[in-house]
Amino acid sequence: MSSVSKAAIAEALSEARERTLALIEPLDDEQLNTVYSPILSPLAWDLGHIANFEELWLVQTIGGREPLHGELGRFYDAIENPRRIRDELPILRDEELRSYMADVRERTLDVLEGMDIGADVEDPLLREGFVYEMLLAHELQHNETMLQLLQLVDGYELPTAVASELNASKSAAQNATVPVKMVTVEAGEHQIGAGGRGFAYDNERPLHGVELTAFEIDRYPVTNGAYLTYMNDAGAEAPLYWERDGDLWVDTARGRRTPIDPFDPVLHASWEQADGFARWAGKRLPTEHEWEAARPRLDGVGYGWEWTSSDFLAYPGFEAFPYREYSEVFFGDEYKVLRGGSWATHPRVARSSFRNWDLPRRNQIFSTIRCARDA
Ligand SMILES: [Fe+2]
Repeated sequence: MSSVSKAAIAEALSEARERTLALIEPLDDEQLNTVYSPILSPLAWDLGHIANFEELWLVQTIGGREPLHGELGRFYDAIENPRRIRDELPILRDEELRSYMADVRERTLDVLEGMDIGADVEDPLLREGFVYEMLLAHELQHNETMLQLLQLVDGYELPTAVASELNASKSAAQNATVPVKMVTVEAGEHQIGAGGRGFAYDNERPLHGVELTAFEIDRYPVTNGAYLTYMNDAGAEAPLYWERDGDLWVDTARGRRTPIDPFDPVLHASWEQADGFARWAGKRLPTEHEWEAARPRLDGVGYGWEWTSSDFLAYPGFEAFPYREYSEVFFGDEYKVLRGGSWATHPRVARSSFRNWDLPRRNQIFSTIRCARDA
C-alpha cells in the first residue's frame, strides 16, 4: 500500500462494521449474551471488545482522548480475561452495547479527520495508516471468531454475502476430477515473511531467506471422502460437527443435518487429526516455510486454514510492534501455525505471509488439511 487515503480508510471501517452487524442481525440480545462454548466468548463480549480496541487505539492512543466508560477497557483485555470467565464480567450489553459501538465509531472518524497518515509521517503507528489497517484487520478477524461461535447456534442463517463467500471458496477447493495431485517445489532459497512496506503483523516480519530442500505438496486440500477412508481404516475420530446418521455422516453445524459431501475439502480437523491423516497417507504436514514457498502454485487455498507442522516462533530479527501481547507472548512450542485462510476470512486478512496459530487439539477453527512429502 503505497498511498492510503482517509476516505478509503473511513469506507473500509464502515464496510467492516456492516459485516459485523450483518452477522448478528438475526440474533436477539439473549443469544448475544449466551455462552455457547467454554472456548469461545459470548458474542456481546466480542462486540464490546471490537469497539473497545478501536477506542483504545484510534481514539485514546492516537487521538489523546479520555475513555468513554472509565475503567471499562480492562474487562475487554483478551489476555487479562480468559474466555471461560468473560460471561461473568460487568461488560456492556444490549442497547448500551450498541450505542457504545456507535459512539466510539463517531469519535474515531472525528479523530481521523485531524490525522496525518502519509508515508513520511514519523510515528510508525500513523505512517501509511498502520493503526487503521490494524484495527480493520482486528474487526475482520473477530468476524471469523464470531462465525466459529455461530456454528453452534441452531437455525442460524449466514448473511447472503458471507454465504456466497463460503460457496465460492468451497468450489475453488474441490478436487474431484484433477489428475495431478501433487506439485514439486525445487530446492533453493525462498523469501519468507512480509517486506518493509504495506500492512503486516509483527510476527510476519522481517522478510528473510530460508533454504529448503526439494519437496512435494498436495495440489488441493484433503477431501471428506479421503478423510472418511482414514477414519474407517485407522479408527480415527470424526471432525467437529460430524455425526453418524444410519449409514451416513451428517454435518450438524448451525443445527442442520446436511449429508457430508465426499468431494468437499474436510473442515474442522484438529492439528492432531491432520497430522494423523498425513502419516496414514504416507506423507506429512508441510512446514510453514514450505507452505509459503509453494503458495503461488497451490489451488484451493481459502476454504479452510491449513495446518502446518511448525510451532509458532519468532522470525530471526523479530521486533514486537505495536504491543507484545499481539504475538510475542504466544511464541513457543504450544501453538501450531495455520496458513492461508478460510471461507470465513475476509480477503483483507488472507495474505500469503499471514500466520494464524492455535492449540493442536482445537477444531472449532475452520481448518483443513494439505499434505506434503520430501521429493
Ligand atoms: Fe481481539
